[in-house]
Amino acid sequence: MPLSFKHLTSTKQLLRRDTDAILQTAAEMEKVLLKGGNDLLAGKILASLFYEPSTRTRLSFETAMRRLGGEVISAEGIQFSSLYKGETVEDTMKVVGSYADIITMRHPEQGSADRAASVCPVPFINAGDGPGQHPTQALLDLFTIHKERGTIDGLKIAMAGDLRYGRTVHSLTFLLGLYKNLRFTFISPKELTMPDKVTTFLKEHDIPYEETHALSAGLVSDVLYMTRVQEERFADHSEYERLKDMYRLDAKMLKGKEVTVMHPLPRVGEIATDVDALKTAAYFRQAKNGVPVRMALLAMLLQAI
Ligand code: NCD
Repeated sequence: MPLSFKHLTSTKQLLRRDTDAILQTAAEMEKVLLKGGNDLLAGKILASLFYEPSTRTRLSFETAMRRLGGEVISAEGIQFSSLYKGETVEDTMKVVGSYADIITMRHPEQGSADRAASVCPVPFINAGDGPGQHPTQALLDLFTIHKERGTIDGLKIAMAGDLRYGRTVHSLTFLLGLYKNLRFTFISPKELTMPDKVTTFLKEHDIPYEETHALSAGLVSDVLYMTRVQEERFADHSEYERLKDMYRLDAKMLKGKEVTVMHPLPRVGEIATDVDALKTAAYFRQAKNGVPVRMALLAMLLQAI
């Protein structure tokens, strides 16, 4: 069954049948990767437009396209692009959409992805719109949770750190709203709590959540999703300095615990490197999962499968 959407800008668009199909296709793509790839998207071009810093997301999109035999054209950094000259996102889409078969874009402004998709002549994928949404990260997080825990329904999920500005935790919470009997624990300083758009969604869907300052609450969950304090979103830098070292997870705290530790990366101190050796440290596997999940999305949006 095809996906229920042509453009992916927000996890709120996804239906349960979409996530089921994406998780299943991503698992098939893992097998394709073991063989070094295939030529499913031969002759197709992905335009990869990154107007905000990115390493993983951009490189995994580009890897995904190439592993399926497709090609990539890219633009990086606002200062080198027409946006810097004052071009609107809408005009950029009309032009790039006449070159490429599919577009992915990261942009610093919340809402830019919806504006792009509203005029884009080819499938559009949001790779992060400021503090807004990051739907492909949420899909690879979902794939990772399923792989690591064997299920998604019924899990206790803790999220810690910058819940205010972290787009990954917003997107993932909306996506997890498609599953049953989940419970959330949100761990943050009071300045960085989950925004109303997320807590209102949970209340509307009768999904239970608790809010706390204590990282220890996350150690008794099934999944602990750590995040970086988003320096680039702070108007007042001294506020960032005051909050940035609030949480630091280390191997000693995790001793005897079963909790799966995730992080979208980059980490800047929230997880000590001594955690890396633990079997429950899933964040590098999570980053690796970005490739099969993006392969699945590219192939499905281009209707190649
Ligand atoms: C995240 C992002 O860009 O929102 N990174 C990523 O895509 N892997 C998280 C972050 O930058 O903190």
